[in-house]
Amino acid sequence: MDWGLKNRISGIIRPPDGKAVMLAVDHGYFLGPTEKLEAPARAIRPLLRHCDSLMVTRGVLRSSVSATQHIPIVLRVSGGSSIIGEDLSNERITTGIKDALRLNSSALAMSIFVGAKHEHRTIVSLGRLVNEAEEYGMPVLAVTAVGKDMGKDARYLSLACRIAAEQGAHIIKTYYCENFEKVIESCPVPVIIAGGKKIPERDALHLTYNAVNAGAVGVDMGRNIWQSENPVPMIRAVRAIVHGNMKADEAYELYQRLSK
Ligand code: 5RP
Repeated sequence: MDWGLKNRISGIIRPPDGKAVMLAVDHGYFLGPTEKLEAPARAIRPLLRHCDSLMVTRGVLRSSVSATQHIPIVLRVSGGSSIIGEDLSNERITTGIKDALRLNSSALAMSIFVGAKHEHRTIVSLGRLVNEAEEYGMPVLAVTAVGKDMGKDARYLSLACRIAAEQGAHIIKTYYCENFEKVIESCPVPVIIAGGKKIPERDALHLTYNAVNAGAVGVDMGRNIWQSENPVPMIRAVRAIVHGNMKADEAYELYQRLSK
C-alpha cells in the first residue's frame, strides 16, 4: 500500500489498536434538515474532540466546521436523491476528486445500492471512484445499502460488503445484524457499522459492543449520537467500547454518569 493511502487510512482506523470512531453527519445530503442536525455546526462542535474522523459533505464541511480543526475528513461524494424522491438508489458521484483534495480529505465515501433499481450504476461508480482515488493515494469508503425489499440480514449484507470489497473499497460501512461474524468473515477489508435509526442508548451501546466483538473495526455512527438526549456522554460511551474494550453495560453506566 502506498504511503499516502496508508497514512490517510491510519487517521481513520487509528493505531495502536486499529479501531475507528467515525462521526456521521452527512445525512442532510438526502434527508435535508433532519432532527437534531438542523444546525450542523451546533451538533458537530461539541463532538469533534471525541471522534477519530468526521463523515460529512463538502457543503456542511465548508459552512459548519472550522478549517483550523485537525480532524480527518471522510467526504461524502455521492448524492442525487432525496427522501421524498422516486428512488433513493438513484445516486451519482457529485463531488470531484480535486475538491476532495482541496478540502484535505482523508477518504471519499459513496453508497452502493445492492438489489435496488440503480444497483449497476452505483457499483460501476464505486469501481471508477477507486480508480481515480488511488491515483492520489485516497482511500474509498463504500456505504452499503440493500434494496427496499431485502432484509438487512447477514445474507444480503455479506453480498453487498463483498461486492464493495471486490470493487476495491478500502473500508466498508454496513449495518449490524444477526450472525454478523459471517459478514466480517467474507469481507476482506475493514468493516465499520452505521448505528441506524435512533434506538435507546443502552441498545445502541449493545449494538456497538456486539459489532466490535464480532470483528467490526468500529463505528460510523450518527443519529444514535447526535439525536441522543446527551450526545457527548453518548459518543464517549461508544468510544469507551471501541477503543477501551468496555462492556456494553459498563459503557451505559458511563453514559449515565456523564449525563448527570
Ligand atoms: C447515510 C449514511 C449515514 O452516514 C449512516 O447511515 C450512518 O449514520 P447513522 O448511524 O445515523 O445510521 O451514510 O446514508
